[in-house]
Amino acid sequence: MTAAGAAVKVAPVQPESQPPVSRYFVKSFGCQMNVYDSERMGDLLAADGHVASEDVKSADIVVLNTCHIRERAAEKLYSDIGRLRKPRADGSRPLIVAAGCVAQAEGAEIGRRAPDVDVIVGPLAYHRLPALIADARNGRAVDTDMPAVSKFAHLPARRHQGAAAFLTVQEGCDKFCTFCVVPYTRGGEVSRPVTELLSEAEALVASGAVEITLIGQNVNAYDGGVADGETTLAGLMEQLAALPGLKRIRYTTSHPRDMTQALIDAHATNPKLMPYLHLPVQSGSTRILKAMNRAHTRDSYLATLERVRAARPDIALSGDFIVGFPGETEADFRDTLSLVEAVGYAQAYSFKYSQRPGTPAATMADQVPEAVKDERLARLQAALTVGSHAFNIASVGRHTEILLERPGRKPGQLIGKTPWLQSAVVNVPGARIGDLIPVAITAGQPNSVEAVPLEPKRAAA
Ligand code: SAH
Ligand code: SF4
Ligand code: F3S
Repeated sequence: MTAAGAAVKVAPVQPESQPPVSRYFVKSFGCQMNVYDSERMGDLLAADGHVASEDVKSADIVVLNTCHIRERAAEKLYSDIGRLRKPRADGSRPLIVAAGCVAQAEGAEIGRRAPDVDVIVGPLAYHRLPALIADARNGRAVDTDMPAVSKFAHLPARRHQGAAAFLTVQEGCDKFCTFCVVPYTRGGEVSRPVTELLSEAEALVASGAVEITLIGQNVNAYDGGVADGETTLAGLMEQLAALPGLKRIRYTTSHPRDMTQALIDAHATNPKLMPYLHLPVQSGSTRILKAMNRAHTRDSYLATLERVRAARPDIALSGDFIVGFPGETEADFRDTLSLVEAVGYAQAYSFKYSQRPGTPAATMADQVPEAVKDERLARLQAALTVGSHAFNIASVGRHTEILLERPGRKPGQLIGKTPWLQSAVVNVPGARIGDLIPVAITAGQPNSVEAVPLEPKRAAA
């Protein structure tokens, strides 16, 4: 029996002698690394002669690029497969590819729970996607290897469109926080060589990117790669700043342990580096941070932020938080609330602790009841919203620039981002996506700012 099963046929249906041309759709879950990978899988399929489909319903190949970080994220794969496997009006169903971190962590279980999946491919092996799709004609094709040779060397040229782009500079994690699956799904820390990154960045700028966000699971562990060696993230950003068409540089996600003085100094010296830092802390309790194996304390984290603020006083700070880690008491949680108040985050992401198979915290005693996690998450999110609202209100009166990134809801509206990553909607006749527009911030909302253009009209170039 083929992976397609006996009763339904898998589109595309073409004679063996012709190369299959079909429409693909890549659905992305999880972090920015997955957004980048999804785009690159699209590049691979396009280079192989397939064409992008507007929606999942008319696609012949559906790639589900999955996330394993929390239980709910992982379960989305199975609900999506359930929908996709139902035969369409013409009796066909798409070829289903399970990619990403769930595929890496539980490829064998996917095979058992979802026999209709045609291809299972991990995040370090997706350069083989076209070959695996071809192999899937003879039954399910699986590749969850973590090859020593980088997949990046095998990817085609980027076809990115848009003013803002992600660029993966580093992958993997050596930190082994006790709650986290990433070291198991993405392998150890590996940096891409500077030369490879500069040419990818040049191509992005040539196709219209004005802002590049350098991404990695621990982006500030960037070390220049094996071949080029010894280049830090600050050094890489200095080289990127020399690209004339590139106007803005950002980076995410950083680990507090790798927040070097050179990187902090770059916030004072690199004029294209935006005043924004996402530095996850997870908890404000040093006791819990130790149990999490975070390799920083509450005080060392706060001291790092002080150095960052000394270099760039207007910096917008962001973080990740977990509530209900095993053993977290009400007093530990209050330490998190007091840290939030002390820092004044401009933005933040907060999660309920999720037990992940194979991680040390999953089997720790004193798991926190779900109802307690719910209650703490609500209190934390209320405190974080107060902080982001206060940050946005404090920006009122600033004259700055926003980078126009996408159309707004109403005709003529465009949505842009301030240097501090706040969203603002403007209406500037003649302005286009990719333009930097001078504005004055006039009001602060909980999750955005209101701004008026300082030049109400733009001459079309
Ligand atoms: N490398 C980054 C974060 C990667 S994962 C860092 O170390 O900061 C993104 C976020 O998901 C984490 O910062 C954490 O807040 C959250 N997360 C990871 N594992 C989790 C789990 N088991 N339960 C709940 N949230 C989790
Ligand atoms: Fe996960 Fe910790 Fe690594 Fe971040 S540093 S990816 S939270 S193990
Ligand atoms: Fe999820 Fe994998 Fe990213 S587990 S958060 S998609 S690294």
